Amino acid sequence: MSLLDECFAANRRWAATTVAEDPAFFSRLGALHDPDLLWIGCSDARLPPNEIIGRAPGELFVHRNVGNVVEHADVNCLSVVQYAVDVLHVKHVIVCGHYGCGGIRSAMSSQQFGLIDNWLRHIRDVYVDHRDELTAIANPERRADRLAELNVVVAVENLCHTTIIQNAWRRGQAVAVHGWIYSLEDGLIRDLGVSAERVEQIPPEYRIGPPA
Ligand code: CO
Repeated sequence: MSLLDECFAANRRWAATTVAEDPAFFSRLGALHDPDLLWIGCSDARLPPNEIIGRAPGELFVHRNVGNVVEHADVNCLSVVQYAVDVLHVKHVIVCGHYGCGGIRSAMSSQQFGLIDNWLRHIRDVYVDHRDELTAIANPERRADRLAELNVVVAVENLCHTTIIQNAWRRGQAVAVHGWIYSLEDGLIRDLGVSAERVEQIPPEYRIGPPA
């Protein structure tokens, strides 16, 4: 059986098992899309978001890209965030990076990988902004892991600086933004302690008034 035939066979088994265990599963999910969480994570195949935080289908709205980058002009990511916040009214936006990230390592190397180098440039900028702290870390893997953490911190900051999050806060909507990091070594997630849930937590220079 080919790899793709295996996928279809597994899908048929999954659909049948799911209905056997919960006959209303598909009719219920088909009628309602109401997740409380938005997950922004790396595309890395080793991080299935629903599985690692035990969320069933329907419970997690997801955006993934290489290196879990959030930057202020990425219309793809921002559209996901806007829909999640304004329409789905998610209560938490989680940026989850991970140790051992190939995107992070590539952003630190001088080797060219093609088009993706332009995307990873965002992470390279984070490296340059924290050059002193990072170059003081002798172990290259530990240095990459610290850059993975800093990249999450910057992503959380960039999210909080969007008009999407600021407008939600201004109208009193309860939405918190969090930065987490996942370890491929033990499967555990650590909270980086950079959560934000009100406009006073961001620098005045990034605070933007209500829509005109
Ligand atoms: Co990664």
